Amino acid sequence: MSARNRVSSLLPDFPWDTIASVKAKAATHPGGIVDLSVGTPVDPVDPLIRTALSSASAVPGYPATHGTPELRAAAVDALKRRYGITGLDPASVLPAIGTKELIAGLPRLLGLGADDLVVIPEVAYPTYEVGALFAGAQIVRADGLTQLGPQTPALMFVNSPSNPTGRVLGVDHLRKVVEFARERDVVIASDECYLGLTWEGRAVSILDPEVCAGDHTNLLAVHSLSKTSNLAGYRAGFVAGDPALVTELLEVRKHAGMMVPFPIQAAMTAALSDDTHEAQQRERYRVRREVLRKALEQAGFRIDHSEAGLYLWSTRGEACRTTLDWLADRGILAAPGDFYGPTGTEHVRIALTATDERIAAAAERLTAAA
Ligand SMILES: Cc1ncc(COP(=O)(O)O)c(C=O)c1O
Repeated sequence: MSARNRVSSLLPDFPWDTIASVKAKAATHPGGIVDLSVGTPVDPVDPLIRTALSSASAVPGYPATHGTPELRAAAVDALKRRYGITGLDPASVLPAIGTKELIAGLPRLLGLGADDLVVIPEVAYPTYEVGALFAGAQIVRADGLTQLGPQTPALMFVNSPSNPTGRVLGVDHLRKVVEFARERDVVIASDECYLGLTWEGRAVSILDPEVCAGDHTNLLAVHSLSKTSNLAGYRAGFVAGDPALVTELLEVRKHAGMMVPFPIQAAMTAALSDDTHEAQQRERYRVRREVLRKALEQAGFRIDHSEAGLYLWSTRGEACRTTLDWLADRGILAAPGDFYGPTGTEHVRIALTATDERIAAAAERLTAAA
């Protein structure tokens, strides 16, 4: 295959390869590694969801790309109940095979190309950049609209609460983003993966009536069930918002066969219709966060932002790879901030996604180091 045809050559190096040696060092700790480098859920899927999955497992036919009416209605109801989002028509909900694929495909699905600009946060979930690169679009990293000057992007990703920083954008900030979208005809893709995991203050959706006054034009909210319902392995998410944009995405995705399997749709419907398991999971993370936060602070770390989400954005005021080494000496693996953007170089991202036992082990090692 010629280099010209190799899509992978357009993409950044897979960053996780660069921490392989630090991971190997952490794994030699006599008490075993505490891997806090990735945000993968460790608690089991709720029986209510598993029952829904298996009850739909005998259905032989193709699932609808648009999802079942039950799933779309459950999504609308959950967004209203959990986040106060109103005015959403079930037709304006579209399931995704996990939101990573949707985000990676979005710029291309919206028809962006070399003349288009995509805005991503300064430190960001890497898939926003990947999506823009797939489309061959230009990329600018910016957290504030003033940084953009007169440029008019075609698409802007916002992510509140943020991965990796846990930063929450307030209502005023998001209102300005919406105004900007209207003035310059920019599509806003708001990745709201962590909206249900807010610890301090309040995080709101781009579709919150306080933010958009009920007008969803140019706005897309992206919701994952991976973290709030432990469904990372099921691949379950959806996008909702501007009816015209959702219809366009549906048309394209229908042609490409981007269908969520029917049993997963049934599982998603059950998960979105029940808030009890979601609250239980949030409580597990809240407890782990308290334990880890206290231990990190005792060990001399400063924790920035992190008012929501599944990570503690932590620094010792030194290069992140030095901190990574220090943690690995104690058998703890974190993700270096430089994975997420050039301004992340003095932070490490420490995930709350480990069992209570592993979180306690990490806390003990950190406190012993203090
Ligand atoms: C900010 C953000 N968006 C989207 C995703 C993707 O989630 P999924 O593809 O599991 O829905 C993640 C996963 O870690 C994330 O952190």
